[in-house]
Amino acid sequence: MKRLLLVDDEPRVLRGLERSLFSLTDEWEIDTAEGGQQALQSLAAAPYDIVVSDMLMPGMTGAELLNEVMRLYPQTIRIVLSGHANNDLLMKCVGAVHQYLSKPCEPLVLLSTIERAFHLNDLLSNPDLRAFATRLRRLPSRPSLYTQILEALNTPDVEIDDIGRIVEKDIGMTSKLLNLANSAFVGLSHQVDSAREAVTYIGIDALKALVLSARIFEQFDNTSMGGLSATDLWRHCNATAAAAKLIATHEGAPRATADEAFTAGLLHDCGMLVIAGNLNARYADAIRQAADARQPIAEVEKQLWGTTHAEVGGYLMGLWGLPIPIVEAITFHHAPKAHRLPAFTPLTAVHVANTLISERLGSISGLSTSPIDHAYLAQLGISPDHIQHWRDLAESIPL
Ligand SMILES: [Fe+2]
Ligand SMILES: [Fe+2]
Repeated sequence: MKRLLLVDDEPRVLRGLERSLFSLTDEWEIDTAEGGQQALQSLAAAPYDIVVSDMLMPGMTGAELLNEVMRLYPQTIRIVLSGHANNDLLMKCVGAVHQYLSKPCEPLVLLSTIERAFHLNDLLSNPDLRAFATRLRRLPSRPSLYTQILEALNTPDVEIDDIGRIVEKDIGMTSKLLNLANSAFVGLSHQVDSAREAVTYIGIDALKALVLSARIFEQFDNTSMGGLSATDLWRHCNATAAAAKLIATHEGAPRATADEAFTAGLLHDCGMLVIAGNLNARYADAIRQAADARQPIAEVEKQLWGTTHAEVGGYLMGLWGLPIPIVEAITFHHAPKAHRLPAFTPLTAVHVANTLISERLGSISGLSTSPIDHAYLAQLGISPDHIQHWRDLAESIPL
């Protein structure tokens, strides 16, 4: 039985929430807690898959509670349901929260968010994946620069210059940032030579994504990668991010969705690095096996370990507290049909961009390109003709 904990200081609100979720009580066990302390007691008694918390509560705020939940139970999915969308408090839990919802929340939106979260939690708690993850000793930790950026964004009146100043203290990251800002993809006609100026051009979301992916890549270098070229993978991920964002924008997706597609594109294959960096020679064998049999690497990984680099990457990014649509896009990028939402999401963009970019850039370490899942796209009402537009968009990215 899946377990959900609802937290709010107002009993009336809790009863309303329980009512709107009533149709699912056959499948889920729903408990309530009137405040943070009570919620922590319930969590200590038995684990929960999801916690949905109010923000403004006497005693312990929702931000304090969810930060504590992240520390003690990192695999629990954390959702905020708040009536104070722009409250400073909301900002205090950036990074500890997978999803924000604002009150009043349509019951259908609440239901579908929770179903989505459960589905993701289900997949990420697959015993093979958990067992495999415990074998990976070098599981990268969330970069402190990322946390510093989130914290700076929490302070009132923060300016983009302040964020630039934080990044500029990190020489390695500054050079990556300048590289990105001066890349053909951004398309500027003049040279950018300061971190502060670069942040203005690429934007905060792309900066956050860059900090995460650059740190993962830094931890694993080519020498220890068992046949996987980190340089090729870095190029592939950068181009996939750009293509995923272009596709999402072309489809009229909101700016936030396009930014999520970019972040997910940049991070979609981080699981490959993590596996290769840990298993070295054994991953080299898997790559050889996949290349010889012209089989997608994800299939070979599944046969060998019961899980894939997509799931390992999604698992790690889930632990780091990235938003649900990004974690979904990473987790399902080779198996989008397993994701049940029949709508265009960052997953759609990343799934297609991954293949189109592989076709264009060539294979990584001799691996064959994973095909586009036409049956999945047909479910979304997208015809094969339409994919040609996306292919043209991917072709337009300067590499
Ligand atoms: Fe992949
Ligand atoms: Fe990929």
